[in-house]
Amino acid sequence: MDAERWTEVDEFVAGSLGLGDEVLEAALRAGVEAGMPEIQVSPPQARMLEILARAVGARTVLEFGTLAAYSTIWLARALPEGGRVVTLEANAKYAEVARANLERAGVAGMVDLRVGPALDALPKLEAEGVGPFDLVFIDADKVHTPDYFAWSVEHVRPGGLIVADNVVRSGTLAEADSGDATIEAQRRLHAAIAADPRVTATTIQTVGAKGHDGFTLAIVNPPDC
Ligand code: SAH
Ligand code: DHB
Ligand code: MG
Repeated sequence: MDAERWTEVDEFVAGSLGLGDEVLEAALRAGVEAGMPEIQVSPPQARMLEILARAVGARTVLEFGTLAAYSTIWLARALPEGGRVVTLEANAKYAEVARANLERAGVAGMVDLRVGPALDALPKLEAEGVGPFDLVFIDADKVHTPDYFAWSVEHVRPGGLIVADNVVRSGTLAEADSGDATIEAQRRLHAAIAADPRVTATTIQTVGAKGHDGFTLAIVNPPDC
């Protein structure tokens, strides 16, 4: 099987299950028109995020990496009335496109989009007492995934989830000496998880329109676990 087939399967899944609508398509188009990279989660992956959010009864979600807010819209829609998504985006131009997309989607009122490097936003969130979160989606700069994960473990409620995207990167996760800082970070993430009794985690490989990659999924253990 090759990447073309993986994409066909994603298209079949998205088409047959009706994953997407005019508003989401418009959000994607706005990103393309602004010259932004098309690296958002695929529609089947976005539906997975929705399912995870609903499965844990999420009301409060934190996202690292907004881009054009495609995943943000899916997450916001997964929440009940009064739900809130905090999403962190370093690129001010991208954030502008994201804001317009969130407005068009009718979810701007429940999304707190913060512009700037995520690592700078975290102490502020902490000081404001935002959280604890029910679900965190880590999808920003990949070298910092272990840092975002470490912060998230401290700020997700017991039974809540942490999901990290782009952990497998064409299988390079298996390379001990890749010399690639983004992959070394994903291997460090695994070492940190293995040493941390507060979480139960796994990594699931994926293929699809975005090639061969994968998600790390972690649940924050209750204190007695
Ligand atoms: N979650 C989005 C895709 C995010 S792509 C979706 O699936 O729709 C990764 C995003 O992280 C990009 O928009 C990039 O600008 C942003 N980013 C990169 N470094 C960052 C940082 N240090 N802090 C916050 N965001 C960052
Ligand atoms: C890429 C893919 C992603 O899902 C992401 O969040 C960042 C980058 C990429 O393929 O380069
Ligand atoms: Mg990603």
